[in-house]
Amino acid sequence: MAYEFVPFELERIMSIWENQVEINLSESGVHPMTLGELVDEPALLDELMATELNYPQTNGSVELRQTIAAMYPGATADNVLVTTGCAQANFTGLVTLMSPGDEIAILMPNYQQIWGIARNLQLNVNTFSLKEETGWSVDVDELNRAVTDRTKLIAVCNPNNPTGHVMSSEEMDAVVAAADRVGAWLLADEVYAGAERVSDEQTPSFWGRYDKVLANGSMSKAYGLPGLRIGWTVTTPELAEEMWARQDYITIGNTMLGNKLAAYALSPEVRPRIIARARNYIRKGYANFENWCARHEGLFTLVPPQAAAIAFVRYHRDVGSIELIDRVISEERAYMVPGAHFSGLDHHLRISFGLPKDYLEDGLDRLYRVLSQY
Ligand SMILES: Cc1ncc(COP(=O)(O)O)c(C=O)c1O
Repeated sequence: MAYEFVPFELERIMSIWENQVEINLSESGVHPMTLGELVDEPALLDELMATELNYPQTNGSVELRQTIAAMYPGATADNVLVTTGCAQANFTGLVTLMSPGDEIAILMPNYQQIWGIARNLQLNVNTFSLKEETGWSVDVDELNRAVTDRTKLIAVCNPNNPTGHVMSSEEMDAVVAAADRVGAWLLADEVYAGAERVSDEQTPSFWGRYDKVLANGSMSKAYGLPGLRIGWTVTTPELAEEMWARQDYITIGNTMLGNKLAAYALSPEVRPRIIARARNYIRKGYANFENWCARHEGLFTLVPPQAAAIAFVRYHRDVGSIELIDRVISEERAYMVPGAHFSGLDHHLRISFGLPKDYLEDGLDRLYRVLSQY
């Protein structure tokens, strides 16, 4: 091989441990819904039972694409490609737009997927950061340095994984201005939109703020339906078509049941119930998390996340996050994500809190027992 493949460490290690430990505080979405909780109408159940498990239309059923488009002002079904999760929307966006040697600017910290794909596509990667000292807001000077005349794509994640930061409109304007200055595409991973903790307003999309946008989302986080594996990209009809052509080679398309269930969950009648469920988990869970932190003063510095069911905390003990979590796994059978997996933001942990109180506190107590030995 001409280059060294960069594995998706964060995702792989999570998938190894999340089912093997007793307490898993690594999941970034809320507790998943059951099928019975989602489908509460007998007529829909009958329809699902009568569904042939055939291939659906491979870019997504018209019904689902129209339902997704309705959430993005000015979009129509032609702007939408239904993908296998937001993960595939991100992947297909990159392989469609980028060739080896092209330049990309990526916001950090971030779900490390786009960073890893960029390395594996042999792109030239520039980064710009969210800064902890300013409440995880975008460092605009770094952004402007990272975006050069050669930048073909800027990738952001908003609301952000792992920090839960939601960009202000000034931060969004700065990102758009940087893209516009050089004519770059803007890929916005908006998978946590809807999972707001401090506001009942959905996080605004980059869609509609600039013409070369890919607004990527999915059913996984704010809707608590990761197992549907339904995601999407909302972009220009031309790019949606080009990405569909790549998708023909990758997954062909999604599933019939996934298309139907996602269209149901996103319909204006059902969506508010599901979003309210997620926000309820996030808000109650965060209050429990905050109370636990208050009982262990001095252990963590915490910038309160504005969205998502995760907190990215700095811990004040002299041990690296990988070594720490290795011990938490082996001695306490609990798991949370070491900050080192987020491009070396060591001495941090990503901890999920959208969970039942006893379970959350049990996990935090297990972490504490190891941390307090340092
Ligand atoms: C920011 C971000 N984007 C994409 C994904 C993948 O989501 P999906 O399950 O929709 O593929 C995740 C999963 O954790 C994520 O955190």
